[in-house]
Amino acid sequence: MNSQNIVKKASLRSIAAYVPEKVLSNFDLEKIVDTSDEWITRRTGIKERRIANDNEQTSDLGTKAALKAIKRANLNPDDIDAILVATLSPDYFAMPSTACKIASNLGLKNITAFDISAACTGFIYLLELAKAMVESGSKKNVLIIGAEKTSSIIDYNDRSICILFGDGAGAGIISLNSDNPIIDVHTASNGDYGDLLMTKRSQKSSISTPLCMSMKGNEVFKIAVNTLSNDVIEILKKNNLKASNIDLFIPHQANLRIIKAVQEKLNLEDHKCVVCVQKYGNTSAASIPMAMNDAYEEGRLKKGNLILLDAFGGGFTWGSALLKFGGENFS
Ligand code: UT7
Repeated sequence: MNSQNIVKKASLRSIAAYVPEKVLSNFDLEKIVDTSDEWITRRTGIKERRIANDNEQTSDLGTKAALKAIKRANLNPDDIDAILVATLSPDYFAMPSTACKIASNLGLKNITAFDISAACTGFIYLLELAKAMVESGSKKNVLIIGAEKTSSIIDYNDRSICILFGDGAGAGIISLNSDNPIIDVHTASNGDYGDLLMTKRSQKSSISTPLCMSMKGNEVFKIAVNTLSNDVIEILKKNNLKASNIDLFIPHQANLRIIKAVQEKLNLEDHKCVVCVQKYGNTSAASIPMAMNDAYEEGRLKKGNLILLDAFGGGFTWGSALLKFGGENFS
């Protein structure tokens, strides 16, 4: 075969994460709002979450995760030719983008850098974008980052929201490597449900309206379970795979009950399902790369493993991805 006809595939060649030091436990929250460790644990599975300090911005969390991801890919910052960031809690709400801030922190002055807005599904959207960029030949090494300081858009008087979310960042590098390719990525949205999970301030509201999040949790819950389950079943079917072929299922970490419902639909054993919601809560766009990093550092995610990702979030947006992990094993 003519070598020009060989289609080169994009691969996730490293994964890394950073979490702030400060821990906010359910017991801490009991002192702030009318809630209990028992309620939070039973309804969500969450025990604690990390909170960034006043001097740490989303870009700082993202930069720390990015530096590790670059190192784990055996690259230098100079090798990166695009930075894509998914976040719903950017440093600045219009500009400069968090990606530009991270590029500056990394000393990169002449590369593509931009943010996307796809809420908790952001990292799956980035996988699709980065895959297209490197497979088209337009970029060589794309740094993708899910980074959130959700605590900056949370009202700590609202018990329906403040118990759910945490801060953190996860990052990965996408480059060509057909040995362990990103096999398929599916992304979707339905804007009709926008008002079920949103930030309160809009262009129509006064500048004094708080920016914070609001959610009709119970309605979101039901749609999330159905959408996530159908999405993973469809991507497996489309690629002639069964759930039993998967080495690791790494879902968005919003609620343990949602994760367990999807896991049951897939009939997956516990050791194949990554759960870290108890440690970090919902970190939105950072949730999937942080969960992937947890599995990686525990030695559960290894080079060549077939992994299935699944996410759902505000918009509504949702998506799934099938890939073979292309990074070197954790040591
Ligand atoms: O990442 C994006 C996607 N997000 C999600 O997927 C989140 C989806 N939703 C959820 O995870 C769940 O709906 C929640 C955890 C947010 C809530 O659990 P729920 O079982 O759906 O509870 P609920 O909203 O139906 O509320 C049940 C009761 C209510 O009291 P009444 O009306 O029954 O008297 C709430 O006021 O629980 C009350 N409640 C609380 N009680 C103690 C709500 N929040 C709290 C709280 N502590 N923090």
